[in-house]
Amino acid sequence: MDVGSEIQLQHETWSFADAIDNFDAHILQSIPNCQEQREYIATLSRFFLHADARAYEIGVSTGQLAKAVLARTPERSLSYFGLDVEPVMIEAAERNLAADARFSASIANAVDYSFEAATLVISYYTLQFIPLSERKRLVQRIYDALRPGGAFILYEKTIAENARLQDMLTQLYYDFKTEQGLSAEAILNKAVSLRGISMPLSLEGNRQLLLEVGFNSVELVYRNYCFAGYLAIKD
Ligand SMILES: C[S@@+](CC[C@H](N)C(=O)[O-])C[C@H]1O[C@@H](n2cnc3c(N)ncnc32)[C@H](O)[C@@H]1O
Repeated sequence: MDVGSEIQLQHETWSFADAIDNFDAHILQSIPNCQEQREYIATLSRFFLHADARAYEIGVSTGQLAKAVLARTPERSLSYFGLDVEPVMIEAAERNLAADARFSASIANAVDYSFEAATLVISYYTLQFIPLSERKRLVQRIYDALRPGGAFILYEKTIAENARLQDMLTQLYYDFKTEQGLSAEAILNKAVSLRGISMPLSLEGNRQLLLEVGFNSVELVYRNYCFAGYLAIKD
């Protein structure tokens, strides 16, 4: 089944591994302001990446966000660890960042990963793929790993609290995808393939999750269509 960006799924379930060849193009067509927000996160990251700092990105994919962050901190001797469950993603990230010794990547399920003390953790459209039964435990472990003053930058697709607004946001999002050149069939197929795979929370649901695990400063740093970015700081 065709989900756009020349990606064909053999079944109705979305798999990042199936999408690897055209992943970089597909994510740009699927997420409004995707590269612009990577650059914004890179700028924001500088506040948390002092010399010898450790950063993690859960769901590093092909390393495009890591590349942006590391490009904005060329003078700093930090360590950036990219995690992904898909071995093909890790291979691509290692290839794309081979020139930067500060980057390393591991095939790992973020849910079971033993984080070491860090000053920054980023999840750029990944947490929504973690089963709800495990999501809070993971966010708690991220909070526990952060040093005081450290940050969790979380970007997620969200759902509206109100059904009418959700309907509008869905339609606006489909307009965006159409403008990106995706066919109506590809847009529908993608939605079908993500059933039970992507499980977004509401804007307030994510905020509550961050507050419940202990973050006391939670700021919305991005909102467009149904997408949102939070900066959560551990005081
Ligand atoms: C939307 S992509 C992330 C995009 C990436 N941050 C970027 O800027 O290009 C989500 C990624 O999360 C990975 N992923 C999904 N579940 C995961 C888990 N439990 N642990 C680690 N990675 C996971 C997927 O394989 C996929 O590469």
